Amino acid sequence: MLEGKKILLGVTGGIAAYKAVDIVSRLRKAGAEVRVVMTREATEFVTELTFREISGNPVTVDMWAPIQHWNVAHIALADWADAVLVAPATANILAKAALGVADDMLTTTLLASTSPLFFAPAMNCNMYAHPAVQKNIETLTARGAHIIAPEAGKLACGAEGPGRLAEPPQIVAILDDFFARGGQLSGVKVLVTAAGTIEPIDPVRYIGNRSSGKMGYALAEEAVARGADVVLVSGPSALSAPKGLKTFISVETAQEMREAVLREAEASRIVIKAAAVADYHPKTVAAHKIKKNDEELSITLEKNPDILKELGQRKKKGQILVGFAAETQNLLQYAQEKIEKKNLDFIVANDVTKPGAGFNTSTNIVKLLSRDGAVKEMPLMTKREIAKCIFDYILPDDLGGNN
Ligand code: CTP
Repeated sequence: MLEGKKILLGVTGGIAAYKAVDIVSRLRKAGAEVRVVMTREATEFVTELTFREISGNPVTVDMWAPIQHWNVAHIALADWADAVLVAPATANILAKAALGVADDMLTTTLLASTSPLFFAPAMNCNMYAHPAVQKNIETLTARGAHIIAPEAGKLACGAEGPGRLAEPPQIVAILDDFFARGGQLSGVKVLVTAAGTIEPIDPVRYIGNRSSGKMGYALAEEAVARGADVVLVSGPSALSAPKGLKTFISVETAQEMREAVLREAEASRIVIKAAAVADYHPKTVAAHKIKKNDEELSITLEKNPDILKELGQRKKKGQILVGFAAETQNLLQYAQEKIEKKNLDFIVANDVTKPGAGFNTSTNIVKLLSRDGAVKEMPLMTKREIAKCIFDYILPDDLGGNN
């Protein structure tokens, strides 16, 4: 998939800079064209000449060097690239990129680029674990950058732990996989719901649940990464909407979610309902704040519509309908029953009582169940990784999946 792709490689000043030479070599062998931008510090570890020879292209370091090939070099480089990879990425470049600092060729190019961006961090394990570095990684991830996690092992500084640059074959495989998935869902409309709905009691109170929206947002991101036209219908969430969505619809109640979902589902090929929809709402909403006059307060709840069930009833030929089941007992049995009852093609089942699983965590442990009774058990993974596995699992061959 790398054949003909234009990769801009940013090399920063860490001991792993020598491994970037191997990355260039592998990218070129896979058919990619590579241009290298080095920071001044990187040239202390590997010479420009090495990268020029191995990439077959001029190497840029200095903003102010006489211009030979481009009019406005950082803009031209940014526009040229199909993807930008920074490897190794030091703590310094992660901080600058997170802040939007532009004080050399590489940082300026990163700011001017709208291409998919990959960082492969490499540093001492204590530096990597530092909250400042982790916060910068979080900021970059939230902005849509891909982080190629470092490996654990013996580091050049003698310490042991996560911080060693991912191996070049793995980095190249990640880029290859990215381009392979890139156009897979091009022109396909995907509808995702996320987060919990809230049901008002009075003007200041509501009934809600612990859903953060992380799983649904990760699914929307994955669908965007595969080139889909993605509509995300979300209940209240602290997360920012993923970049590249076609439409973002913010709702509060189950009723509002129902209206948006039924409207958008019509033309959607894939519908994934990761939202934690409230099953009930207060029968009456007090017009004014309820005063604590009585020792006991009863609120009568009325059932909400089951949106997923309605989608199952209206499902068109070829539409793929995926539900979620959050359970605390009898996981597989309840999940299987929901597939039947709601006419689903797949259900993602998770036991929310397990450590690292369920609401408001960045990880989850799920089982993927299909209508034909097959069950795929997944280990503890990040929600972003689970999103990738879900798409790999549910997509039929004609949409590039392995199902
Ligand atoms: N769901 C929905 N509308 C509802 C309730 C749930 O669309 N009113 C969807 C959720 O988005 C999820 C799936 O149904 O994809 C299962 O949700 P879950 O809460 O696990 O199950 P329920 O159907 O509510 O059943 P129960 O509460 O009995 O477990």
